[in-house]
Amino acid sequence: MLHIEKNFELQKLNTLKLAAKAEFFAVVSNKEELLGAISWSKAKNVPIFVLGGGSNILISKKIKGLVLKNEIKGTGILAEDRESVTFSALSGENWTHFVHLAAENGWYGVENLYLVPGTVGAAPVQNIGAYGVELKDTFDHLVAINLETGKEKIFTIKDCHFAYRNSIFKNKLKGKYFIYSVALRLNKKASLKLDYGDIRVKLLEKGIKKPNLKQVVSVIQEIRNSKLPSPAVLANAGSFFKNPEISISEFRKLETSFPDIKSFPTGKKVKIPAGWLIEKAGFKGKKFGSVGVYEKQALILVNYGGATARDLLALVKDIKKTVKKLFTIDLEEEVNII
Ligand code: EPU
Repeated sequence: MLHIEKNFELQKLNTLKLAAKAEFFAVVSNKEELLGAISWSKAKNVPIFVLGGGSNILISKKIKGLVLKNEIKGTGILAEDRESVTFSALSGENWTHFVHLAAENGWYGVENLYLVPGTVGAAPVQNIGAYGVELKDTFDHLVAINLETGKEKIFTIKDCHFAYRNSIFKNKLKGKYFIYSVALRLNKKASLKLDYGDIRVKLLEKGIKKPNLKQVVSVIQEIRNSKLPSPAVLANAGSFFKNPEISISEFRKLETSFPDIKSFPTGKKVKIPAGWLIEKAGFKGKKFGSVGVYEKQALILVNYGGATARDLLALVKDIKKTVKKLFTIDLEEEVNII
């Protein structure tokens, strides 16, 4: 049964732990409740805002309309052959639980995305990525429900316009669809991606030359835990900014002033780790009242307790201004600011 609450506090439902109200709020646990919520919002003429794990948002004001907490869960196999399996989850499922099930079954493709916070439904919205793998690499299709009409639509990989931390659901279709389920095509044959950062080094340290799926999951867990704070322990929203891309000529110029600059080539452009820029700008590990920049990874902004959106946004402004002045690079937020 759909139960709609008024003036609902969202502090516990966002990992930055910011206090903010929703004008209306409901939990949806199945399709019937979701369709009920869509009808209700139409009758009331209020917009719907879909909340997943709350791990990639900064809520700066009261959210007008109906906030839906997605608790629609379940997983299943859609198709299978000797080489691959199409494994699907309903969108309110915890992403890491989905990855865990894939690894337990010996299906390859998403192990590097273990412990990315959030729900399955949020994963395609920003094409989540970590350790050399992105969601789009195994994506098969998703089913979404139009928030205006209640009608279902299948989105193939082409329809989603995936890019670095981006998709059509962050742009043209923002706020238009409720992602209902996501299906991935996973490999039954070993195909591990071990070339990013320290993965191979960490495995070799343990004497593992030919790792299996579970060993990779455990090393990813170790690397993440050594750099990224668990939102359950320290309030944060993961990488706050995207890694900016600059032209090769801009990069050459910067390299003369900063010979130790870190970079990754991406075809015609060069990607610079925002964490390096923010660290170089002197922010790493710094506290400003109740907010700060995480001491082990400068891309993570932290609420040490009691911070407001205004405190965080002041820090964001300061970081962007300083990075721009030093490197003439504009940082762009990865986190959704509402
Ligand atoms: N670096 C610094 N200082 C820092 C942080 C990083 O110099 O404080 C340098 C590192 O030395 C390294 C490079 O930056 O050479 C890259 O660092 P890292 O491997 O930690 O990854 P990242 O580029 O900072 C991205 C994703 C993360 C993802 C990691 C691992 C973005 C915006 N972030 O961070 O994603 O976990 O790669 O693949 O692309 C997230 O999206 O919330 C997230 C945590």
